[in-house]
Amino acid sequence: MWLTEADPGASARRDVLANGGAICDAKRMVPDTHTPPASLRELLHFYADAGADEALAEEAPNRFVEKTPQRIPPLRGEMPDRTERGAVPPDSQGSEAGKAIQDRRSTASPSPPGISRTNGEVSRPRHAAAIPDGAQVARARELAREARTLDELRQQLAAFDGCNLKFTAKNLVFADGNAEADLMLVGEAPGRDEDIEGLPFVGRSGQLLNRMLAAIGRDRQSAYIANVIPWRPPGNRTPTPIETEICRPFIERQIELVAPKVLVTLGNPSTKTLLNTQVGIMRIRGNWQEHRTAGGLAIPAMPTLHPAYLLRNPAAKKLAWRDFLEIKARLAN
Ligand code: URA
Repeated sequence: MWLTEADPGASARRDVLANGGAICDAKRMVPDTHTPPASLRELLHFYADAGADEALAEEAPNRFVEKTPQRIPPLRGEMPDRTERGAVPPDSQGSEAGKAIQDRRSTASPSPPGISRTNGEVSRPRHAAAIPDGAQVARARELAREARTLDELRQQLAAFDGCNLKFTAKNLVFADGNAEADLMLVGEAPGRDEDIEGLPFVGRSGQLLNRMLAAIGRDRQSAYIANVIPWRPPGNRTPTPIETEICRPFIERQIELVAPKVLVTLGNPSTKTLLNTQVGIMRIRGNWQEHRTAGGLAIPAMPTLHPAYLLRNPAAKKLAWRDFLEIKARLAN
C-alpha cells in the first residue's frame, strides 16, 4: 500500500480501502487529498475493477525523481521513436520486428522487483500480451489436442502466451484434487486467493465447496477440481468471450484426459461453456446434461449453482443440495 501518514488524505483512503478491499496507488493517483470518501470509494472500485488491487510497496514512489530508464539501442531496421516509449506498437506485435523487440526486451532487462514469479509458472511479460483473436483460439486448440497427459497439458498452458489474462495473473491455476477421481467439478475462473495459491477454490467459495463435497462423502482426494479459465481475470472481471474461447480447448482437453464418470459445472459461465447451452443456470440446474469431448466421449454432466452464488443467496443452498444428492446417486451406480 502506498499511503503514508504525511498524506492528509491517507487515513480516509485507508478507511475506504478497509471497507472496499481495493488497494492501489492512491497517493499518486488522487492528487486532490480533499476528495470526499464517497468519491474515493468509487475511484478505488474503479481501480480494483481495472485490476489495480494489490500492494506493490509501503510507500508511493516519487516518479519525478526516478532515474530515466536506460534506452535499449535500436535493432537495425527498428523504428526507435515508436519503440522507446515503452510499448510494442500493436501493429508490429505479430511482425518479425515486433518479435525481435519483444525477444530482446525479455532478455535485455531483468524483471523489476515485485513481479518475479513465486513458483516460476507464469512469467510477467517484458513484452506485450498477444492480441486475443481467432488465431490464438486455433493455437490453443492445436496445443490442447497435442497434450497426451495432464502433465503435458499443464506444461502447454504454462508456456502458452496467447491469452492476455496470463500476464496479469500471479499463477496458473490448473487443478486440485485427484485426477483419478470419478467426479470432476469445473468453476469459472480463479479469484484472488486462488491466484495467490495457484489452486482452484481455496477462498470462501472453496470452503463452501469443500462442505458441499463432504455432504456427499467426498473431499479433494476423491474429486478433481478445475476452472474454465486458468488465470485470474484482473479485478475479478468477467472473462471476455474471446478469452473464454481461447481457454476452452484446454479445459475441454483436461476433462477428456480425466474422463470422469460425472462432470459438475458450477454456475452459469461454466455451464454455458461446457454444455454448449444458452439456458440460464436457474432453469438448467438439477437436470442431467451431457458433455461431449472432442474425441466423442459423452460424459454425464450436472449443472448446479456456484458456491459464490450460494454464499450470497443462502436460501438457494437447498437447490444445490438436491443437485448434489443426484450426483451422489449417479456416482453410486
Ligand atoms: N470461483 C471460481 O469459479 N473458481 C475458483 O477457483 C474460485 C472461485
